[in-house]
Amino acid sequence: MTYALPAPPTSTLLTQDFALIDRVALISGGNSGLGLESALAMAEAGARAVYCVDLPEHPSAEWQKVRDYAAKLKGKGGEGRLEYVSADVRNQDKMWQVGEMIGDKEGRMDICLAGAGVLGDAVDCLEYPGREFQRIMETNVHGVLWTAQAAGQQMRRFKNGGSIILMASIAAHVAFKGHAVAQYHTSKAAVLQLARSLACELAPEGIRVNSVSPGFMLTRFPKPYLDVQPEYEHIWSSMNPMKRMGKPHEIRGVMVWLASDASSFCNGSDILVDGGHHAW
Ligand SMILES: NC(=O)c1ccc[n+]([C@@H]2O[C@H](COP(=O)([O-])OP(=O)(O)OC[C@H]3O[C@@H](n4cnc5c(N)ncnc54)[C@H](O)[C@@H]3O)[C@@H](O)[C@H]2O)c1
Repeated sequence: MTYALPAPPTSTLLTQDFALIDRVALISGGNSGLGLESALAMAEAGARAVYCVDLPEHPSAEWQKVRDYAAKLKGKGGEGRLEYVSADVRNQDKMWQVGEMIGDKEGRMDICLAGAGVLGDAVDCLEYPGREFQRIMETNVHGVLWTAQAAGQQMRRFKNGGSIILMASIAAHVAFKGHAVAQYHTSKAAVLQLARSLACELAPEGIRVNSVSPGFMLTRFPKPYLDVQPEYEHIWSSMNPMKRMGKPHEIRGVMVWLASDASSFCNGSDILVDGGHHAW
């Protein structure tokens, strides 16, 4: 039996593999931090429109600055359009409506980053209140699935495939040393398995699903801890061999790679972006 060699690659420039020309993205948690960084990176890679979904009725000043900057990219390989939608990822009906609205308006859906997440308070695991545990799960697990559904339904509708990225965390792999946040560890570990599960179900439709696990990153997320005890920056930095926390822009490359054709055989994977935190 002879083995048929695959056809030669269709693109000749590596940058074309990473390009997101004319693609449409939905990003939850897109009003700040890693979600907003990812939105800008996708716009820079040529996306036609990136819809940032988040809780506040109106986008932050930071988001507006990024939108204005991205708009200047119009005509330079992309459209540079960032759109803001106020929605709560815990509301499944609303998230489906958001997906449908984007599909109706743009006639396609290519990329999803389910990035909205909450940490919750540090509480003794034997005393953890049920309602609070539920609140974290509703955002970090249910909300991630509702977001993936919102985009995935539109990818199915337009039969064009797509890339869905679920935001996990180093907390899905190891427990945070010295922090009583069982709710967060549990919710992020669920995201890993959700990504694998969706990846297996949706692959026949050309929809890839992967997760990203950042280590400690300097966003608004760890701010409640750092405001009270600034020494945490040093403690968390010491938890990886690079001896520093990650900067928000250090998520950009991985997000564009996963969103693009450059990762076309990457499915059901988790990509760690943690300075080596997991290696210790
Ligand atoms: N910063 C870190 O150290 C770190 C590390 C690992 C993973 N993460 C994960 O990355 C993601 C983004 O975090 P970040 O660091 O950019 O923090 P961030 O606080 O800047 O961003 C989180 C965003 O999610 C939004 N959000 C929260 N609940 C929501 C809801 N119910 N509906 C819609 N939006 C909601 C917030 O308003 C916020 O804009 C989170 O899922 C977080 O768990 C962060």
